[in-house]
Amino acid sequence: MFIQPARQPSTPISNPFAQDMLAALRNRPRWISPKHFYDARGSALFEQICALPEYYPTRTELGILQRHASEIAALMGEQAELIEFGAGSLRKVRLLLNAMRAPARFVPIDISGEFLQQAARELRQDFPRLNIHSLVADYTQPLRLPSLPSSQGRRIGFFPGSTIGNFQPREAEDFLRMAARLLQGGALILGVDLIKSPDMLHQAYNDAQGITAAFNLNLLARANRELGTDFKLDQFAHYAFYNAPQQRVEMHLISQCRQTVRLNHWRFDIAEGDSFHTENSYKFTLDGLKRLATQAGFTPGPFWIDPARLFCLAWLQAPA
Ligand code: AVJ
Repeated sequence: MFIQPARQPSTPISNPFAQDMLAALRNRPRWISPKHFYDARGSALFEQICALPEYYPTRTELGILQRHASEIAALMGEQAELIEFGAGSLRKVRLLLNAMRAPARFVPIDISGEFLQQAARELRQDFPRLNIHSLVADYTQPLRLPSLPSSQGRRIGFFPGSTIGNFQPREAEDFLRMAARLLQGGALILGVDLIKSPDMLHQAYNDAQGITAAFNLNLLARANRELGTDFKLDQFAHYAFYNAPQQRVEMHLISQCRQTVRLNHWRFDIAEGDSFHTENSYKFTLDGLKRLATQAGFTPGPFWIDPARLFCLAWLQAPA
């Protein structure tokens, strides 16, 4: 008879968050994907960010959607199927759904399961006749969409918020290629944050109330909750800045002391001043956006931009 080894009182390294955290602890520089921000607490903190006076993107994009909803809906056509990537609170898509003519189905996709289910429940109350099929998934991984019996309309993607800015340029192109395939003959409605004064960008990611800092720090708090790590949370500083040559805002968490952190049976040394790079948020020019979209196979245009030229909502026509 075999004697079973005692089970480790720790999470097996099988889930994507644990794998990525382990890689971050082992590698230099320490990079972890911003998709791991979004547990229920992270999604709630992000909603608070969207309401901050310094965080202009959400307000600005909502304004663009409000002004142009009927024009956008006309381009979508009747009985379109709408697929939203990184759906979050579903606040923006309501403006489209209200303007659309006889939408065939709405498919919100989000990695944050509880949060998505709650948002979808609220949407069902307000759109009782809409066919809603929510999908808890990581859209950076291959997607399988539920088939839609006999749809007459086009398939339209919605990727607002400039979440595409989280991808490296190569990954953004890969994502767009995947989307072009998925949406063939339809279009992608893409929100992108435009290049602007570094000062305005700095304020947007360094808000006075410290919500962005809490959102950033939630990554390590989440690791402590879910993975059994023991990061000393009060010893990490939020650091966000605009990297102008790379055209991106970077977020980091910087250890203010030497500490060791445990993950399963491993221990890792973190020196004072060591950084975890937690997010890139790329900013775009209109030319850069057109180039990227064209490279990925889309035909770009029309573009809708707010009067202060802070943010752009782009219609990208997918090849048939
Ligand atoms: C959800 C990726 C668009 O990059 O502005 C907000 C996330 N990070 N404040 C962004 C975020 C810090 C946001 N995106």
